[in-house]
Amino acid sequence: MIDPTTGRRAAVILAAGKGTRLHSTGPKVLHSVGGRPLLGWVIDAARAAGCDPIMVVVGHGGEEVRAAFADQGLHWVEQRQQLGTGHALAQARQALLDAGVADATVLVLSGDAPVITAHTVERLARAAEASASWGAMACAELDDPGSLGRVLAAPSAPDALARIVEAADATAEELRIGRVNAGFYAVPTPGIFERLAQLDAANAQGEIYLTDAVTAAASDGQRVALIDLDDPGEALGVNTRADLARVHQVLVRRKIEALMAAGVTVLDPARTVVEAGVRVGRDTVLHPGVSLSGHTVIGEGCTLGQGAWLRDSELADAVTVEPYCVLDGARVASECRVGPFARLRPASVLLEGARVGNFVEIKNSQLGEGAKAGHLAYLGDATVGAEANIGAGVVTCNYDGRDKHPTQIGDRAFVGSDTMLVAPVTVGEGATTAAGSVVTHDVGDGELAVGRARQRNIPGWADRQARQDKKKRGKKKR
Ligand code: UD1
Ligand code: CA
Repeated sequence: MIDPTTGRRAAVILAAGKGTRLHSTGPKVLHSVGGRPLLGWVIDAARAAGCDPIMVVVGHGGEEVRAAFADQGLHWVEQRQQLGTGHALAQARQALLDAGVADATVLVLSGDAPVITAHTVERLARAAEASASWGAMACAELDDPGSLGRVLAAPSAPDALARIVEAADATAEELRIGRVNAGFYAVPTPGIFERLAQLDAANAQGEIYLTDAVTAAASDGQRVALIDLDDPGEALGVNTRADLARVHQVLVRRKIEALMAAGVTVLDPARTVVEAGVRVGRDTVLHPGVSLSGHTVIGEGCTLGQGAWLRDSELADAVTVEPYCVLDGARVASECRVGPFARLRPASVLLEGARVGNFVEIKNSQLGEGAKAGHLAYLGDATVGAEANIGAGVVTCNYDGRDKHPTQIGDRAFVGSDTMLVAPVTVGEGATTAAGSVVTHDVGDGELAVGRARQRNIPGWADRQARQDKKKRGKKKR
């Protein structure tokens, strides 16, 4: 049934539902799992399977949904009132014609069922395009089929549909069937639209069911191929917050299994989160509680300690991140060591072999090759030269209450413990600042800056205190 002139496969993704049981203010399909909105997963699967055009039927929060997927070449169809899945698909008829899709295979997917793979979309399309078929649908055998539609196969052919019955309309006997409708179909246009036009909403939910149109084709003797999903988990849809958690786990697990297959060690997959857009090089080890999100890229042979949290960060090879570090928008070159308990904020850059220790915060700053900030420091808007040493408790005072100012620290400089660098300020190459200094003007190359009150020792202080205390006690007794 594929359009022979264009060879096109169109996708229509149904995403107009309100998701009432999520009790959310926003549209259901924008809730994120595994680092992407529900709808994003479905769009990706359709695109990877070569579907073009991809149409999305939206209703509740339609504007918000469109905005979230702007500039992705999608076609948008409005379903003003949510009168059922069949009604939703029917809204796409004109848009398909407008896009030049008159006689083709239409993949109908569900915006709230993100576990679907491109492979499944491909299988459905091929089964529907087989010469004996009218269409195809995906089903799965589930232990707990819950509220999903039940699939009854033709008695003579277990791989062909007889009828789909919605849980709300099913008899007690039908509810015992474990084979469910996953909600993914490959159907022919214009055939499906002709059948949809004949439906009414005479069922328990008062809706126009897409499932009734597919059942009608089967009843008329058309072959609707039943495709059993390789992984029944693909049938999982999101109707509740509990579903959201379950689906998130499935998608994260899928990502982690792909990483392990490619040579990454994940010591405790159940306690590790890796989002879809993350890349990790081989022989890298992820300890329990690691979370990698956004566009994070990790090189080869890195170690990420327990509880390391990284978002949109890049690590080159052989980087060690000790436990409980937070890296957000940071770039770390090879052989660096970070943490434990370090925080690298956006635009933090560590060059090769740099070291950042515990309770060090860095923002919009670069640490040169082999530079060290071992303990309790804040570096903001700073450039630190190669092999420089930042002592414990050093602070770049980069903010004067109105503006941010830069600090420059030269190669091999030694910034003594508890130095306050009042920016804008420069510490030259090989310069030293004395511990506890407040540095308010530039320090030249090789100079020592001492900016603190001179120490004074008062002899006999303890004895004098003791005499005074004794006198006080005497007065009290009297
Ligand atoms: C549907 C199927 C059921 C199947 C299940 C799989 C029907 C009648 N039932 O049930 O057999 O087991 O999916 O998950 O099709 N939508 C719209 N407009 C509407 C109604 C729904 O766009 O008017 C969208 C929803 O946003 C959702 C999808 O269609 O993305 C499925 O709708 P939903 O109401 O969740 O159908 P189910 O009751 O789950
Ligand atoms: Ca659903």
